[in-house]
Amino acid sequence: MVLGLKKWKRHSGKGKFNDSVIKPTTIANFFLSLHLKQSQQNKCFNLVFTKRKFSYMFQNQKIAKDIYYVGVNDRQKHKFENMIPLPFGVSYNAYLIMDKKTALIDTVDISMGDIFIDKIQSQLDGRTLDYLIINHMEPDHSGSIRIIRQYYPEMIIVGNAKTISMLDGFYGVDENIKEIKDGEILSLGTHKIQFHLTPMVHWPETMMSYDQTEKVLFSGDAFGSFGTLDGTVLDSEMNIDRYWNEMTRYYANIVGKYGAAVQKALRKLTPVDFEIICSTHGPVWKEYITQVVDLYDQLSRYEGDEGVVVVYGSMYGFTELMAETVAQGLSEGGIKDIIIHNVSKTDASFILRDIFKYRGLVVGSPTYSNELYPEVESLLRKIEIRGIKNRIFGYFGSFTWAGAAVKRLSTFVETMKWVTAEISVEEKQGLKAENYRACLELGHEVAKMVKHPVERKEHCV
Ligand code: FEO
Repeated sequence: MVLGLKKWKRHSGKGKFNDSVIKPTTIANFFLSLHLKQSQQNKCFNLVFTKRKFSYMFQNQKIAKDIYYVGVNDRQKHKFENMIPLPFGVSYNAYLIMDKKTALIDTVDISMGDIFIDKIQSQLDGRTLDYLIINHMEPDHSGSIRIIRQYYPEMIIVGNAKTISMLDGFYGVDENIKEIKDGEILSLGTHKIQFHLTPMVHWPETMMSYDQTEKVLFSGDAFGSFGTLDGTVLDSEMNIDRYWNEMTRYYANIVGKYGAAVQKALRKLTPVDFEIICSTHGPVWKEYITQVVDLYDQLSRYEGDEGVVVVYGSMYGFTELMAETVAQGLSEGGIKDIIIHNVSKTDASFILRDIFKYRGLVVGSPTYSNELYPEVESLLRKIEIRGIKNRIFGYFGSFTWAGAAVKRLSTFVETMKWVTAEISVEEKQGLKAENYRACLELGHEVAKMVKHPVERKEHCV
């Protein structure tokens, strides 16, 4: 393509080709990127890449001795897993260890594959890549494996038996592979990497890699967070306030179903003396390790704080008025953290975040075509899918000619095996004095139960 441009210049006699304005390498990279996008669209398995001709420029951030961050930020994707909004973006983290042998830990989403390659090549500076260690095969981390393999065909891919099966299944890659077992150690020279299998945090093949030399834990999705890394990747160099909510939202939506697996992994990691956590999303944790591990421990035990989420659906405001009244009752009962969500307005990922955060939940819904209001039904399914445990529940509903919402809410809570308020409220048409008082009482009762969590013990995991 570059030759083609030169030829155009020579023959046209009018070309404005000027190396200082349009560099051949820039053009080549444009077509490289175009080719990549086209290949993705065509699901082409035989990618061919042109190497850059100028020197590599990236100065990757150092995490510890010989360990560099080579991940990327994604501020373009609207929805993670095509479902979960990303108002603050997301990072796909990957790390490179530069020892006698070089090792890359995880890759990134294919959409960022070109910049990822440049970062790796900048760091390797002419050296080869000896190993690719795969902690997790979900494509936001494994998506660039085939590109890396194109550049480093001799590279050994390291994973467990389940990783290897997925590697073949997703990408047709089945050569130069090293299968490791739980506890096995790979020596890179000075750095000794020990592998800890942690299935279902978040997929069956998930594992963590621990650098015994530098005490760095490469944790996969565990301890991850939504939100890009702006300017630095280290928690000690940033204001981390904005990550706590996004970390909880990430946990609730991505890992939330697997609380028991997270607890098992945390127990397994107890003897591991790590000083740095390198997750696949969000900050590298160094200064706030205790807080981060405590948060994961609390979330995976389904231990909510003292507070109540009131979620409602409402077409014309009558059910909303019931929600407001329940909230008033909660406040009168001494609850300070009361979060009201209109299920039609707030994305479910944020509501789930708050349900994980607080131990009380009250849901209200109108009856719709003899069913639950569909937006409320959708949220209940998301709660059921995650198997959220140990919540204190209250419910109310409304109808115009035949009630169905309250009945459905009562069957929902039976499925969830949650502790439930004895009072439930069902109103026909507009809210009237008797049920106004009942809504207040529902709030009082839930407040009392939330303030005395001992009643939840039988439901602990
Ligand atoms: Fe970020 Fe389970 O992948």
